[in-house]
Amino acid sequence: MKNILITGGTGLVGQRLTQILLEKGYAVRYLSRSAGTTAQGVQKYKWDLKNQTIDQEAISWADAIINLAGANVGEGRWTKKRKKDLYDSRIDSVNLLHDYIKAAPNYKDKVFISASAIGLYGFGTTDDQFTEQSKPANDFLATLTKDWEVAMDKVASLGIRTAKLRVGVVLSNEGGALPKIAKPIKLFAGAALGSGKQLLSWIHIDDLCRLFIAALENESYQGAYNAVAPNPVSNKEFTVSVAKELKKPLFLPPVPAFMLNLLLGEMASIATRGSYVDCQKVIQQGFEYEYSDHQEALKDLL
Ligand SMILES: NC(=O)c1ccc[n+]([C@@H]2O[C@H](COP(=O)([O-])OP(=O)(O)OC[C@H]3O[C@@H](n4cnc5c(N)ncnc54)[C@H](OP(=O)(O)O)[C@@H]3O)[C@@H](O)[C@H]2O)c1
Repeated sequence: MKNILITGGTGLVGQRLTQILLEKGYAVRYLSRSAGTTAQGVQKYKWDLKNQTIDQEAISWADAIINLAGANVGEGRWTKKRKKDLYDSRIDSVNLLHDYIKAAPNYKDKVFISASAIGLYGFGTTDDQFTEQSKPANDFLATLTKDWEVAMDKVASLGIRTAKLRVGVVLSNEGGALPKIAKPIKLFAGAALGSGKQLLSWIHIDDLCRLFIAALENESYQGAYNAVAPNPVSNKEFTVSVAKELKKPLFLPPVPAFMLNLLLGEMASIATRGSYVDCQKVIQQGFEYEYSDHQEALKDLL
């Protein structure tokens, strides 16, 4: 297994994953909304979700497909149109991949590893712990993720080894949640959000990429895995740790949830609410985290 096709490879996770895969000697190409070559020299095949087409060569070239594509959940208010983009970019894309994989020669030899999300479980109280067996919730993100996984299961039903990594909040200094949390702190305007008690089930980007590669290389990975670090942390404790690492004071009171709701609408829920997601299954697979503690992760990233 040498040729790895990454959908959404141009994104935050995809770029770091590409670096690590190339260092390990894999060949990497992307399936993207635009064809061409990235600044790093990665070839991009084009897919067109609206017209339901994929450059056929992409699928025949790939030994394995890592699916990371999807419009960004943390960017822009969740208007009706935005919700449709978030939905179609995930569900239509996997359904399209399914159709093309099914039509490819020797398709059963391929491997399919996909991002999913812990949003599947909804938001819990501090007493709830979500395992891979927990029931999906009913809010927008949970429904989106549930339908996304149904599409992944259709790929699995072709007889292809399929692993679904339910990704938590990815910590990276290149994008995602951490720079958004760090920026106001750097400007002396940092504060916890909402009650501050909501739990953040996070994962360091390098551990996430290593987990994708473990799932790729180890045939025993099949089905769903919670891709989070072992020690979730409250929003308040995390904010205090970021400030400490940046050597900045934190003196403002928490930003009330209602203000965030006014500013961000329904999307505010991803900042003001949280969940404790359990990673025992990943540990039982033999995966060893480099960053189990959020303070170690922040020391590395900030
Ligand atoms: N980052 C997190 O904290 C987090 C948490 C939970 C789950 N996840 C999941 O993990 C995956 C990777 O996350 P990420 O942070 O790397 O995502 P990202 O930076 O937002 O990148 C995702 C990629 O998806 C493609 N894309 C964007 N909008 C699209 C659309 N409307 N239709 C089709 N493709 C579109 C883009 O690639 P092209 O421009 O090349 O087409 C983009 O580079 C995503 O599926 C995300 O939902 C991430």
